[in-house]
Amino acid sequence: MRRLLFAANWKMHLGPADARGYLDAFLPSYAPHADREVWFFPPAVSLEAVARAIAGRPDLRAGIQDVHWEPKGAFTGAVAVPLAAQAGARAALVGHSERRHVFGETDAETARKVRAVLGGQLAPVLCVGETLAEREGRTTIEVVRRQLGAGLDGLDGGTLDRVVIAYEPVWAIGTGRNATPQDAAVVHREIREWLSKRGAGVTRVLYGGSVNLKNIDELLRERELDGVLVGGASLDPDGWAQLVSTREL
Ligand code: PGA
Repeated sequence: MRRLLFAANWKMHLGPADARGYLDAFLPSYAPHADREVWFFPPAVSLEAVARAIAGRPDLRAGIQDVHWEPKGAFTGAVAVPLAAQAGARAALVGHSERRHVFGETDAETARKVRAVLGGQLAPVLCVGETLAEREGRTTIEVVRRQLGAGLDGLDGGTLDRVVIAYEPVWAIGTGRNATPQDAAVVHREIREWLSKRGAGVTRVLYGGSVNLKNIDELLRERELDGVLVGGASLDPDGWAQLVSTREL
C-alpha cells in the first residue's frame, strides 16, 4: 500500500489566529485515513498554534518551512531546528524553490540544513526541481541529480529513508501550469533510481507545483507519486479537506 503524504506549504500566509480558525474548520471535515498523512508547513510564527490544534491526531504533522543549520546563536531572523522542534515541528522543508531562487540559497546550504534537520530528529522534505530554462535546455535530470547529490551526499540508505523528496519544477510553482503526471513520473523514476543505488528503499517522492482540486485525481493515478506538496490550494480549509480526501483510483 502507498503511504500517501499530502503536504500543505502555507508560505507567508496565515498567522496564529488565522491558523487556529483554519484548523477549527479543517479538523471536523477531515477524519483520519489509514493510507495517508497530512503535514502542515505554516509560517514559523504559527507553528505552535498548528501543533497544539492537531495534537491528538497522529495522522497530522506540523513542520517548519526553513531552518538554519546552527543549533543556536547570533543569527537574527533565523530559526534553529531545536527551536522549531520546541514549537512543535516534526518536519522541515529544505531547499524550497523560493529559498533557492528568491533568497539565493545554495546547494551547500541545503546540505547543511538537511543534516541539521536529521540531527534534530525531524523529517527533512528536500525540494528539488528545474527552472524553465533548464527544462528547455534538456538538463532537468542533470539538475535534479545535482541537487540530490548536494543535499544528500554521504547519507546511508536507512537515513535516506527518513527523508522525503519533493520534486517541484520551478516553472510549475504558483503558475497554474502543473507538470503532467507522465512528465513528473519520468523525474520521479530518476529520483528513485538515485536513491536505491544508495541503499534507500522506502523514501517518499512527492510532486509539487500547481496541484489543485482539478488535477489531483489525475496526478494520484500516477503510481510514481507518493503524494503532493501544495501551496495555493492548501490555503482554504474546505478545499484542502476535499483535496486530501481524494480517493485513490
Ligand atoms: P503551488 O506551490 O501549489 O502554489 O504551486 C507549491 C509549492 O511551492 O510548494
